[in-house]
Amino acid sequence: MTEPARAIQGTSFVSELEQRHLHPLWDRYQRITPIKPQAADTPFIWHWREVEPYLHRSVGEVSINDIERRALIMAHPAFGQETTTTSTLLAAFTVLDPGDRARPHRHTGAAIRFATRAEGAVTIVNGRRCEMKTGDLILTPPMGWHGHINESDHRIIWFDAANMPLIRAVDAHFFEPGDPRNNAFWQVDEGEESLWSEAGLIAQGATHNAMNSPKYRYCGEATRRLLACAPPGPDGARTIRYVNPATGGAVMPTLDCYAARLNRDAPTRMKRATYNVVCLVVAGEGRSTIGEKTFEWSQHDVFTIPHWNWARHEAKAGEADLFMVTDKSAFERLDLVREEMQ
Ligand SMILES: [Fe+2]
Repeated sequence: MTEPARAIQGTSFVSELEQRHLHPLWDRYQRITPIKPQAADTPFIWHWREVEPYLHRSVGEVSINDIERRALIMAHPAFGQETTTTSTLLAAFTVLDPGDRARPHRHTGAAIRFATRAEGAVTIVNGRRCEMKTGDLILTPPMGWHGHINESDHRIIWFDAANMPLIRAVDAHFFEPGDPRNNAFWQVDEGEESLWSEAGLIAQGATHNAMNSPKYRYCGEATRRLLACAPPGPDGARTIRYVNPATGGAVMPTLDCYAARLNRDAPTRMKRATYNVVCLVVAGEGRSTIGEKTFEWSQHDVFTIPHWNWARHEAKAGEADLFMVTDKSAFERLDLVREEMQ
């Protein structure tokens, strides 16, 4: 008879504590200290054939002069109105018509662009003109001024990723608009980007902030050349990490990018990690099994590997290339990287 009495007494004690804004650890211990990560989102895929028509429609719906950016964010349904792709990363496609200028701004969120159909686009980053040729990766490091322009005679689309969800989770995001009438912003040349465009060479005296890569443009041609000769990694894929040439580490403290080439009919080993990954299919066709889902994918599809989900990939009908954007470097800084392979 003493047990129920103690339980009732315990319940009333807990509610009294809660009224005093004190919570006992003992009745919620497992929630406070889970035994492993449990992503709120399931693996998800956005097929290019379904996304592309909406990008074209967006051009007719909104003028670039009336909005900050003409981008469609891939929003995972698990996050409802939060507008995020994984718990920490945003992925999107941006569309610009000839002559469109996406006005300058800066923010504490780190962002990247990967040029899918962007030949003729230019991103200005911190006073440097960065062209966007097929497969180029362009960084816009935290608080760097940046704007985009379509100088071609055709519509341009590129892939974007950023980490605003991570920064909003710790409420550390700042945003500053630039002056849309400032023509001088666009009248720049490559500037100091040329100091960092020669692989394996660093100019003595070139100044840099080691936190973020001083190199903003990673040429797609160079990535493809290295993928062609890179040895297979532990999971079987040929993988390249984009690095800060001054440190050899990730390109930015909170965004970490990779390119991978998959062999035909040779699935990679199953791998899982504590960080999140968004994959863009750069070329080819293939299949990925992530958690309990299997996705068939082709060029410019985007899919997610939410943290601590097992994932494996394989190409079909020839090789396939993936671009992967992750928050691994943020997890490295927090000493929270854990990776496993089967
Ligand atoms: Fe931006």
